Formats: sequence, C-alpha cells, structure tokens
Amino acid sequence: SDANGHEGHFNEDLTGRVLPSTAPLPQPFTNPLAVPEVLSPYSTEGDTDFYEVTASVASARILPGLRTQIWGYNGTFPGPTIRSTRGRKVRVRYRNELPVPIVTHLHGGRTPPEFDGYPTDMILPAGGWSSPHEHPGARYDQVFEYHYPLDQRAATLWYHDHRMDFTGPAVWRGLAGMHLHSDEEEAALPLPSGDREIPLMIADRSFAEDGSLQYPSRDPQLRGERGVTEEFTEGVLGDVTLVNGTPWPYLEVAPVKYRFRLLNACNARRYLLSLDPAPDDGPFIQIGSEGGLLGKPVRQEKIAISPAERFDVVIDFSGFAPGTTVRMRNDAGEGAMADVMEFRVTGQAQDSPKIPERLSDFEQLDPNAAVRKRKFSFQGDRNDEGRMVWLVENHPFEVDYIHADPKIGDIEMWQFSGDVHHPIHIHEVMFQVIGLPEPEDLRPTDIGWKDTVDLAPGDVARVLVRFDGYPGKYVFHCHNLEHEDVAMMANYMLRP
Ligand code: C2O
Ligand code: CU
Repeated sequence: SDANGHEGHFNEDLTGRVLPSTAPLPQPFTNPLAVPEVLSPYSTEGDTDFYEVTASVASARILPGLRTQIWGYNGTFPGPTIRSTRGRKVRVRYRNELPVPIVTHLHGGRTPPEFDGYPTDMILPAGGWSSPHEHPGARYDQVFEYHYPLDQRAATLWYHDHRMDFTGPAVWRGLAGMHLHSDEEEAALPLPSGDREIPLMIADRSFAEDGSLQYPSRDPQLRGERGVTEEFTEGVLGDVTLVNGTPWPYLEVAPVKYRFRLLNACNARRYLLSLDPAPDDGPFIQIGSEGGLLGKPVRQEKIAISPAERFDVVIDFSGFAPGTTVRMRNDAGEGAMADVMEFRVTGQAQDSPKIPERLSDFEQLDPNAAVRKRKFSFQGDRNDEGRMVWLVENHPFEVDYIHADPKIGDIEMWQFSGDVHHPIHIHEVMFQVIGLPEPEDLRPTDIGWKDTVDLAPGDVARVLVRFDGYPGKYVFHCHNLEHEDVAMMANYMLRP
C-alpha cells in the first residue's frame, strides 16, 4: 500500500515478450549517467525560437568495447533536450538523413494538426520513397519545420518518431528526446534546478552480439509490412535497462533534493519504480505528471510508469550520510531488470528550500461537467490471414475513419476497456483519470493532468478530457508501440 493508504493498482504481468541480448552486458552501476545536451536555438526572432534537428544514422557507445548503430536526433540517443517557456513559440526544422521517412510528434504538446506529426505526414528521405502501401498524407522533401505554439502549462513533454506502422522500430533505434516546457508559475517555485534537475529517460533495449540493437521486424527494410514477427505481437521487451542511453547507470548526488523528470520511453515494458533505501521524506515526492504540476506534492511509495507516461518527482537525499548508495529498483522486473540505476550520495552541500505545499493553480474537473460520454474498446484479434492485429472499437487504424468529434472547449468522459495492458494516449489534450473503474481503484499515481493512462487487463479506465486545442484531426492510440504499429490507433476530429 502507498503513502496515501490505498493499494497500488499495479498488475505485475508484463505485456510482451523478452528478446534476449546476445551481446556481453555490463555489470549494473558501472557507467555514469549521461544527461542529454540542451539544444540551443540557431536563431531567435521576436517571440519565436528556431531550432534545427537532423535525424541520422550514428554510432553510439552503449555497451563496453562495442559500438551500436542508432538512429539519432542530432546523432544521439536520447536526442537533445529542448527547453521552452510559455509565451515563446518554438519552431523545429527536422532534416531527414535516415534511409526511411520520419514523422515527429511532440508528445504532450498542444499543436495545430498540420504540425502534430500525423502518422502519414512524412518527411521523406533523400531520393524519395515509395512503399507497397501508400496512405494519404503530406509529403515533405527531406526537411519540414514544425511550429509549436506551446501555449500551455509547464510540463514534461517528449518528442519521438510517429511514422505509421513503423513507430516501434524507429523509437527502438533511438528516435526519442525530452522537451521540458516551463511557465511563470513553475519558474516562481523554489524547485531544484540546474544540475539538480535531471531528465531520466528509461528505455529497455536488446543487443545482438556485435552490439547492434536487435528488433524483430517482420519487414527489416521497414518499407511496407507493418509490425513485428508473430511471437512479438504483444510487445517487444528488452533485457537491458538504459537510462538516458546508458545501461543501469550511476549518478553521484549531493545530500540535497533533486528533481527528476521520469519518462518511460520503452516500446512495451512497464516499470514499478521504488527506492532502496528509501528517503524518510518520500520516497518519491511527486510534483507533476504528463500535463504539468500537481496542486500540491504527493508522497509516493512507488511509481508505476507505463510507456509514454511521465512523472515529475523530487527525491530528497539530505537524510543520507555521504557514502550511501540508493538504488532505483524496478519491482516489476526480475534479475537485472529489477535494477534501474544507482544514486551515490557524496560530499556535503546546502539543501535547497522545502518543496512548497502549494505548487500550482490546479483545477480538479468535476465529472458532472462532462457533456458527453464515449466508450472505446482496445482489443486484439486475428485478421483474415490469421495474424494478430490490435484494434480500437474493432477497427484497425484508417486515415479516413473518424471515431469521435468532440467540440473545442468541451469536457467529455471517455471510457476505455481492454484485454491486455494498453497504455492509452490521446493527442493534443490532457485528461484526469476518475477511476479504474471505481474512484477507489485509482492508482495513487493517476493524479493530475495526464495524456496517457495505463489500462490494465480486464479493467475499465474512465478519464475526463478537456478538449482544448486547435481544430482538426488527431489520433489517440495505444502507446505499446507494437500494438500501435499493428493498427491500435484511431482518429478524432476536434471541431470548432
Ligand atoms: Cu507518444 Cu501518438 O504518441
Ligand atoms: Cu496496447
């Protein structure tokens, strides 16, 4: 049970199958944590900052003595971190130097539809592209500039590839980065900052003997045939935990409070994070979720984090004597997968101020404010050829099929049900979870504004969605990328 007294509603069964590494793996906690570089704008004009990011094949040092070919934004995995502030717009010009099309989605961003990274709006590689299965969508020749108004609350966002049918292999190869968005309300708080504010992108991966990333694609050229081989249709699980691209790293920390932006960037693996030994104040002090700051900090015993979920947490190391090691563990993993990373408390330092009891002007939605209710099932089935497909309301994803047409400004209640675990994400908007299915079943971490909810097998999840955004067509889908790629995605039309 958690600090609030209720049982954590976490089902430890993983959805997916482990692809064992054949490469020699390092001992946990032998490599230091890397922190992705913060990208500088190449130009700043008026109220807009301009960035450029190139997606390319690159070589990374992930395993000792081996090189790993990745697909990286600016050649790195994770990609560079973009930092933005409400009131300033961001434009990112993506250049595609990969051999396949790319699509970039700013996950958690409130973005006009033409810049949201719709799965068939593709930036083509040099030399163009044709595939056996063409879907209607925009085509850009190697370069496209996404415009992000970012007129939204401070939040932990991330960006990643979103090409239809091929998001799983593209993200697995490295196309993911953090985007930290701030605003005045957040900036005024005495939260740990500078080198005491660190993004932690958690991603499991699997490595072949030569150090290359292995992924069981049905179609290794990634041209036309969606998805993974039959054995991996439930999801691809790695047997190496990378944090910011380093296997089971360690981080030296001063005996003070740190702020960590946790992101699960796995294709399919869910983690249940805990700290050993646990700080007296905490263990985790949750201050935010996908849609930004909570109203007040909440102590959490454990953090259940499914693909695409983010948690903004403070860990207070001030009670630990120098020399103490604190491990971040994964209670949903076995063997090496039960380890995540290690914090080594060293030296002496002045601690930053207490975390304020009031964090933000948080508006708790009233279920009675919902003007409409909609229900969506997320379930697997076999297609005519006997292959596993993942469906929303018994429909495979189709560009032209609209499942819902909410009106801008409305609050609706959406109810999800499913068979196995499905981390369900709605583009463009944020929601509040109101019970799985009863309010007393709420996971202690399902609080605040969210954009992804982990639907457990046989469960029902109800969310109150506030449809703020720009008019147009957006997707919602399962963020288990192997499910998403085999059609577990649907459209909704946001109407003025
Ligand atoms: Cu993180 Cu539609 O995606
Ligand atoms: Cu799913």
